[in-house]
Amino acid sequence: MAATGKTGNLSLVLSSLVLLVLLMITPLTWSQMQKRPNIVVLFADDLGYGDLPTYGHPTSSAPHLERLAQEGMVFTQFYSSSPVCSPSRAALLTGRYQVRSGVWPGVFWADSTGGLPLNETTIAEVLKTQGYDTAIIGKWHLGVGVNQTYLPTNHGFDYYYGVPYSHDMCPCPVCFWPNVPCGLNDNCGSQWTGCPVYENDRIVEQPADLLTLSSRYVKQASRFIQTSADRGNPFFLYLAFQHTHHPQFAGVEFTNTSARGKFGDALLELDWAVGEVLSTLQQAMVQDNTLVFFTSDNGPSLRNEQRGGNAGLLKCGKGTTYEGGQRVPAIARWPGVISAHSRTTQLASTLDLFPTLAKLAGAPLPSGVILDGVDMMPILQNKQGSRDLFFYYPTSPDPQYGLYAVRYKQYKAHYYTQGQVNSNPNNHDPDCRPSAQRTRHDPPLLFNLNNDPSEQFNLGNMSQYQQLLKTIDTKKVEFEKTVVWGESEIAKHSSPDAEPCYNRGCQPFPLGCCHTPQWWWP
Ligand SMILES: *[C@@H]1O[C@H](CO)[C@@H](O)[C@H](O)[C@H]1NC(C)=O
Ligand SMILES: *[C@@H]1O[C@H](CO)[C@@H](O)[C@H](O)[C@H]1NC(C)=O
Ligand SMILES: *[C@@H]1O[C@H](CO)[C@@H](O)[C@H](O)[C@H]1NC(C)=O
Ligand SMILES: *[C@@H]1O[C@H](CO)[C@@H](O)[C@H](O)[C@H]1NC(C)=O
Repeated sequence: MAATGKTGNLSLVLSSLVLLVLLMITPLTWSQMQKRPNIVVLFADDLGYGDLPTYGHPTSSAPHLERLAQEGMVFTQFYSSSPVCSPSRAALLTGRYQVRSGVWPGVFWADSTGGLPLNETTIAEVLKTQGYDTAIIGKWHLGVGVNQTYLPTNHGFDYYYGVPYSHDMCPCPVCFWPNVPCGLNDNCGSQWTGCPVYENDRIVEQPADLLTLSSRYVKQASRFIQTSADRGNPFFLYLAFQHTHHPQFAGVEFTNTSARGKFGDALLELDWAVGEVLSTLQQAMVQDNTLVFFTSDNGPSLRNEQRGGNAGLLKCGKGTTYEGGQRVPAIARWPGVISAHSRTTQLASTLDLFPTLAKLAGAPLPSGVILDGVDMMPILQNKQGSRDLFFYYPTSPDPQYGLYAVRYKQYKAHYYTQGQVNSNPNNHDPDCRPSAQRTRHDPPLLFNLNNDPSEQFNLGNMSQYQQLLKTIDTKKVEFEKTVVWGESEIAKHSSPDAEPCYNRGCQPFPLGCCHTPQWWWP
């Protein structure tokens, strides 16, 4: 039964007074809290520019990502900071080019002793200063190290659940239901321990059951969102999928269901997971106060041929500094802030997330470190953004060569080009193959990407472009002057002590004994 009129009124008066006092004491904090958006970064792996229906793929299916695109903004000139995984993730989380943080050359392996240096400031650390709950679900790939030194919980994340590197860096027992081993062409790392699933800094499953992995990622992501929403805390969720890296896998519900084979099945499962996260946001009633940003770590792995992704009309793919290596799909949604059905051709990069998110949270930027990102809120609000330059480092940068290419407005100058194994030894375009060795271009190759996104028609030795090339050269020199190369973390020695093992010290290592008790082998 309801309280009697008198006590009801009294408590109403009292609670109004309390509210009034609260509002008077902390008016700024209160309104800031209302405004600070939640942030969900959805990061696909090796998903190319041409892989989504939204970007023109004729047979892919990804209905949830299509809906996300319809409700928000689609980028057509969005760049990952690197054509490969670890450096791309380092730059996303720090807002700094990978060479500054030492995440070069190439990527971390299962036995790497190095990792993202602990003195680098991640987005998670910055957002934490403003009271955000922070979680990463999925692929970390910025080092584990001896004693789990480099795991996300040491980099500003409150919570971690996932496989800490690529799932081809472990023997892959099962890819498809019912217990079908991954294909012979899937190049799994049989010399290392089984893929570990970490929860925070503990291994909870080894080897990972790939068939149920995505559904567990969804479960953990949803739990995190719901918990923060219930507590009224702003949150940052970084959901980094194993999909669509090779070997392709998918749960029972998605196997053999797409019109695009194994890649299509994996993409469908990724898309389902995106849909689940979006509906959790809705159920938790935080959808309107959440910026969702979807993108990919680099271009498609063409060496996996029919089981790899597609760069659409762009040249080459993963591993190269051609457009197919680094221009990736990107979709942003924030109801009421970003117009639905919008599309932008402005330049933006994963590097830009750091300053953008820090500003949205009202957090100061780290002092004394050079950031390479710029705030992209103007672009998201249909205004002019400030990025007109983008710098391309290859898979394995080397201070001796420095930048391979520079984009300035619609132009791109290649100082060096090189093919790469991930762009396929048998690629129909010889420039993409690993046999295309590093080649210096003087004058640089120059393309007008607005007219020629496929980088086919070189303007570099036409007299009318010499002044422009001088301008680009000056910008390159100015930028490179600011770059202090961090000591390479990837070149640090590798050691079996760094390989994740549930029963550390067991024999026979690595394949015979590291498994968790509930382990089974097909
Ligand atoms: C981190 O420490 C290393 C080694 O002392 C140093 O070279 C680097 O500049 C530091 N990085 C940052 C971002 O402070
Ligand atoms: C790892 O932890 C062990 C036990 O605490 C310690 O003896 C060892 O020095 C640590 N190694 C590194 C590289 O931190
Ligand atoms: C998927 O298709 C393959 C090849 O046709 C078949 O061997 C396998 O049994 C199918 N799996 C399921 C779950 O339908
Ligand atoms: C134009 O540049 C390309 C690549 O730098 C070079 O191979 C070619 O010989 C040049 N052509 C002329 C006419 O200079």
